[in-house]
Amino acid sequence: MTKFADIKGFVFDLDGVITDTSILHGNAWHQLADSLDITWSTKLGNALKGISRMDSLEMILKAGGKANDFSDAEKEKLATQKNTNYIAEVNKMTPANILPGMKDFLDGLRANGYQLSLASASKNAPRVLDKLELADYFPKVVDPASLTHGKPDPEIYTKGAALLNLKPEQCIGVEDAAAGVAAINAAGETSVGIGDATELAAADMVFSNTAAVTLANIKAKLDN
Ligand code: BG6
Ligand code: MG
Repeated sequence: MTKFADIKGFVFDLDGVITDTSILHGNAWHQLADSLDITWSTKLGNALKGISRMDSLEMILKAGGKANDFSDAEKEKLATQKNTNYIAEVNKMTPANILPGMKDFLDGLRANGYQLSLASASKNAPRVLDKLELADYFPKVVDPASLTHGKPDPEIYTKGAALLNLKPEQCIGVEDAAAGVAAINAAGETSVGIGDATELAAADMVFSNTAAVTLANIKAKLDN
């Protein structure tokens, strides 16, 4: 396994890692599912974490047995409707919405000379970073519009390392979603999962919450 001393950069997911927008995404999709008479479940909400906007819509329609009920134009309209609701919630965000310990973790990474990039599937990521006043921490953001494949494909994490001019083995990826952990692993980076240990069993290490994600804890797991 990679040694802590080899690590030079961190590639971050945003939603559910730096802030709890995963709840806002879930609420906005739930609202849309209700309007389409599709039964919502926590399981469906969890499966959507890390999944792109249009892929999420497809998964919801499929879950409701309506995969073939809408034209592409209608699907675009539905996705836009969800995004409008989501943005209204994002616009209310402030730095108080940064998840516990994450600001200290980011400050510690910067102070120790690590490079940072963002590998979020969200086209709203720059807006969210702005609201959290964290845009300065992430001058390198992978543009999700440039991707051929979404998570769990490694592309976004491969690009996240390339933006830093680092090899994948020199990077740690940080994720809250199973699809994201799979993407990090397939990119050849070290994966840090935040959340349920069973759900994120594929990760190189799992922390149950963001407050536990510290450089010291990561070092201890890598070098033990
Ligand atoms: C991911 C979220 O970060 O971004 C998903 O985990 C979301 O829930 C995806 O669907 C795309 O986000 P957006 O903001 O482009 O619709
Ligand atoms: Mg996430």
